Amino acid sequence: MTAPQFSDLNPSVRVLLGPGPSMAAPRVLRVMSTPPVGHLDPGLLKIYAEEQELLRYIFQTRNEWTFALSGTGTSGMEAALANLIEPGDAILVAIHGYFGERLAVIAERLGAVVDRIERPLGEIFSVEEIEAALKRKPYKIFAIVHAETSTGAEQLHIQEIAAAAHKHGALVVLDTVTSLGSIPVKVDEWDIDIAYSASQKSLSAPSGLAPITVSPRAREAIAKRKTPVSSFYLDLGLYAKYWGDPHGYHHTASASLHYALREALRIAAEEGLEARFARHRANAEILWAGLEEIGAPPFIPSAYRLPPLTTARVPEGVSPHDVRARLLNEYNIEIAAGFGALKDEVWRIGLMGYSSRKENITLLLAALRELI
Ligand SMILES: Cc1ncc(COP(=O)(O)O)c(C=O)c1O
Repeated sequence: MTAPQFSDLNPSVRVLLGPGPSMAAPRVLRVMSTPPVGHLDPGLLKIYAEEQELLRYIFQTRNEWTFALSGTGTSGMEAALANLIEPGDAILVAIHGYFGERLAVIAERLGAVVDRIERPLGEIFSVEEIEAALKRKPYKIFAIVHAETSTGAEQLHIQEIAAAAHKHGALVVLDTVTSLGSIPVKVDEWDIDIAYSASQKSLSAPSGLAPITVSPRAREAIAKRKTPVSSFYLDLGLYAKYWGDPHGYHHTASASLHYALREALRIAAEEGLEARFARHRANAEILWAGLEEIGAPPFIPSAYRLPPLTTARVPEGVSPHDVRARLLNEYNIEIAAGFGALKDEVWRIGLMGYSSRKENITLLLAALRELI
């Protein structure tokens, strides 16, 4: 067999304004070229400890079990559900977009009895609707997505929803994949049992790690399991030992990805949460005004529109997919198509983390003006 020969790696430099990944800050890219240490190196343990402290700040929690799992956001979903669910357990999933449905599918694969309540794409739930569903039968778990990346809607009233779930005896799992780092996620104040996220969205590190935090109540439920967690890789008890001192082997985590996430979190902490949320909102408002001006207004009502992810209505007579392809090929700008039934109706534009900057908005709006 002849040895394949390829040219040097030379990917296009893109302005990433899609639903994730977002752009990584130069500081994040720089630390990734630091030589990796071994997965049991004492230096890595120190990095984990710092990452934990930074993640607790971002999640606004004191939860001891706060880690960054090796895997993308979906590993956070799987870990949250796999550690809580035993076959036959009842779970209620509130679905207002594609990622809510993914939660339900994962729970089914884990052997849970899954009940779904659904809102049409682009809508969110009221507390009353969720409470009515919770009253129908006892559920061990209630799961919902905070920021639906498929529609650009923020599920509001999370604190009240969590209180209703607890009143009816359910643990609360919250998907904060897109929200963490760009809008408030108050794990302790809202009384969330497991929240998980992803490194590549509003935190602006490359994909590959999934921050997760677990309440004492959820830890107690995990401790009371009658069966072992079905996933060895995502067993949070084993993670606690791997990240603990003494630092025991569980798997060979990527030091490079942890360097990147630690740096991205350090940047977020230097900026400060309030300033970071304000920047995301201010930039999103500039984008929203610009989109109105060019005839591609935001799809989601302003009351629950997400600053990190905007769905914009494609103007009449414009081919959404041609424009998207031309943005990529001619301007090096990535945005995404809509999901499911919204595929030909909207574009999805992300202003997350390091991508949320005025110059990117000006560039995108100027390019769209030329193309539509
Ligand atoms: C809300 C939400 N949950 C979960 C995921 C899955 O994350 P990943 O693609 O990193 O596995 C995504 C990804 O876009 C998401 O937006």
